[in-house]
Amino acid sequence: MNHLGETSMALRLGDEAPNFQADTSEGKIDFHEYLGQSWGILFSHPKDYTPVCTTELGYVAKIKPEFEKRNVKVIALSVDPVDSHKGWISDINETQNTNVNYPIIADADKKVSNLYDMIHPNASETTTVRSVFVIGPDKKVKLTLTYPASTGRNFDELLRVIDSLQLTSQFSVATPANWKDGEDTIIVPSVSDDDAKKKFPKGFRTIKPYLRYTPQPNK
Ligand code: BEZ
Repeated sequence: MNHLGETSMALRLGDEAPNFQADTSEGKIDFHEYLGQSWGILFSHPKDYTPVCTTELGYVAKIKPEFEKRNVKVIALSVDPVDSHKGWISDINETQNTNVNYPIIADADKKVSNLYDMIHPNASETTTVRSVFVIGPDKKVKLTLTYPASTGRNFDELLRVIDSLQLTSQFSVATPANWKDGEDTIIVPSVSDDDAKKKFPKGFRTIKPYLRYTPQPNK
């Protein structure tokens, strides 16, 4: 149940990421228009002018070129108003030595927070938890994460996941535990050995019939 006593369905992987219009620190946006053909990361934080959030939004600004390289647009959200976001951005830039140059949604009426089930009342009735939604160019939800207020997220992990998602959307591979860009990948079980020979000209090694490694196909 949300703060209005309405039940909201959590978004699941493969669901369409709902569209919305919202005020942001960079003006009004239509979410789907903002994303265009890009991948997207929509992430919420509990509150402006709080320490962990300050480090998180600063870090995202720092690695924004890495997101851009991967054709990913980032957008943050909290239930604070635009004026608060604008003032806080100055603090983030001052303390984190960054230039926050992506929009922060001002979701004072909690419209988007409820749409994306970002308020977990048993954690906090009034503020969003640390939610992350990775959205593909098809506007489908590819990954969700929920972190508590006390734990800052690992945004390098999001880059790693994006690398995996983009690779696995193009080739019949999956990525093993702790995989990083450039390392060997796993051939999905639905591909037969005969087909694997054609699809993966660099070859593959079979540990078990269901566990076959091949060099990263796009390297
Ligand atoms: C923080 O960002 O530091 C924070 C925000 C809400 C609750 C606890 C910590």
